[in-house]
Amino acid sequence: MKKKLVFATNNAHKLEEIASILGEKIELLSLKDIGCTADIPETADTLQGNAIQKAEYIHNHYGFDCFADDTGLEVEALDGAPGVFSARYAGDGHNSEANMQKLLQNLQGVENRKAQFRTVICLILDGKQHLFEGICKGEIIKEKRGSAGFGYDPIFVPEGYNESFAQLGNAVKNKISHRAKAVEMLCKYLKK
Ligand code: IMP
Repeated sequence: MKKKLVFATNNAHKLEEIASILGEKIELLSLKDIGCTADIPETADTLQGNAIQKAEYIHNHYGFDCFADDTGLEVEALDGAPGVFSARYAGDGHNSEANMQKLLQNLQGVENRKAQFRTVICLILDGKQHLFEGICKGEIIKEKRGSAGFGYDPIFVPEGYNESFAQLGNAVKNKISHRAKAVEMLCKYLKK
């Protein structure tokens, strides 16, 4: 019988991507697949804390092996902000446009543009917790460029490239991104 594993997300794109890496031995289930419509709390003040909180919620309420992820953009000159608050940097509306404007505003006149995206994944397998991390370093440019992707992609240029994530597009981004690196580590572990 296939091993069932819940990914605490309803993002079909993320789910499909990971299912294809994991292969046929694991049946990957979404929150919808297990009938979870709850707004899972994400109230920790670190990425790791949120990933753990979400994975534990599913494990405690539904008993499945599961994993959850949390991602933030950490800007060096802003002491790691927006970090865990990346989705709601400019307010609760989760508005990417407003978030980018606020970040560009806060970096006006600032020379040090270094930043990194960081993804933390918490896996709960047979009752044990495992953490995986993926980092993509780069810099925040002065104005938006490109239209692919989501979130802060138009203003983030990864190290070694001259174009933003939004210009590079998903094919390149998915090979070098923070999430890709964290997922790769998770998949390696699960395939062991
Ligand atoms: P989540 O934990 O994947 O939901 O990410 C939280 C927030 O971080 C998102 O709402 C985006 O604002 C930002 N973010 C996460 N991943 C990316 C990315 O790959 N590109 C741009 N922004 C991202």
